[in-house]
Amino acid sequence: MTPFSLKKKASRFFKKSITKILPLSRRKSLAVWADHRGWMPRRKVLPFMLLNDWADKDPDAFHRFLWSHHLAYARWYEECNEFGNENLRPTRKMLFDDLKACLIQNGVNPEKDVKSVFDVGCSSGFLLRYMETDVFPNATKLEGNDIDGPSILRGEAYLREHGSKIHLINADMSELQSIMNGSKYDVVFCAAVLVYLNETAASEVVLEMMNHCNKIVAIYSIAHPTVDNSKLEHSEIRSSDGVFYHNIDSMIEKAGGKVIYRRWEGSKTYADGQTIYFVFSKPAD
Ligand SMILES: C[S@@+](CC[C@H](N)C(=O)[O-])C[C@H]1O[C@@H](n2cnc3c(N)ncnc32)[C@H](O)[C@@H]1O
Repeated sequence: MTPFSLKKKASRFFKKSITKILPLSRRKSLAVWADHRGWMPRRKVLPFMLLNDWADKDPDAFHRFLWSHHLAYARWYEECNEFGNENLRPTRKMLFDDLKACLIQNGVNPEKDVKSVFDVGCSSGFLLRYMETDVFPNATKLEGNDIDGPSILRGEAYLREHGSKIHLINADMSELQSIMNGSKYDVVFCAAVLVYLNETAASEVVLEMMNHCNKIVAIYSIAHPTVDNSKLEHSEIRSSDGVFYHNIDSMIEKAGGKVIYRRWEGSKTYADGQTIYFVFSKPAD
């Protein structure tokens, strides 16, 4: 037996026994406690080891728990996504290039005509900041929400220091209706966020995005590697990390919107390890 397979076996044994010994509530507290201990080995993977049964049974709740407690990938995400144009990841740059081109094709000048933007799952607001400085310089209302409190706090400090107009809200996207509170935004944007919700919950968020949009809803989700997402009958789970492949095209149509641009590139990945599935739509008339 190689050291690698021994390690794998030990990890499987740990997962199985801890699940039997401790109830879920205790394991959740343990994951949070361990995360605050800088010296703890394998701090970032520990939540996956402690909570793997829950991740299988209820992926939505599991992801919500990790993001809202800033655990595991949430901590990594913050470290890897600094403010500043030079830090913009290639797939996000492509997303904004396509969005600008699509707006122009539809008679909207991104630099002049877009006055308001909402970013669902905005993290620290680093994409909103890029929109403020480089994409929609005429926008006076730039808002976003995120469930990850520490990222919002870090973002608010940065944005204050840089004289930004951006307003960040620490809230779950399932509360979008009350967060947006009857306001309509020219652009409603959501990148790499719906993947943490199951099909029903993601469809509800898409509906709220459509209901609160004037000009364009822009959604970026993960591409199914072999089937164009628009052909999926139902959302599927990616086994490596428990996130969802969705059919965003169909969610938009069910919400009464019209898809005006889409891009699906299957298993092709870019330098930031991400795949491409963009869907832009007009809201219902
Ligand atoms: C992969 S990051 C994407 C961040 C950014 N939109 C981007 O494109 O880089 C996912 C973000 O969604 C947020 N998120 C996950 N579940 C959420 C929920 N239920 N409500 C609000 N935000 C959520 C996370 O906190 C995180 O900031």
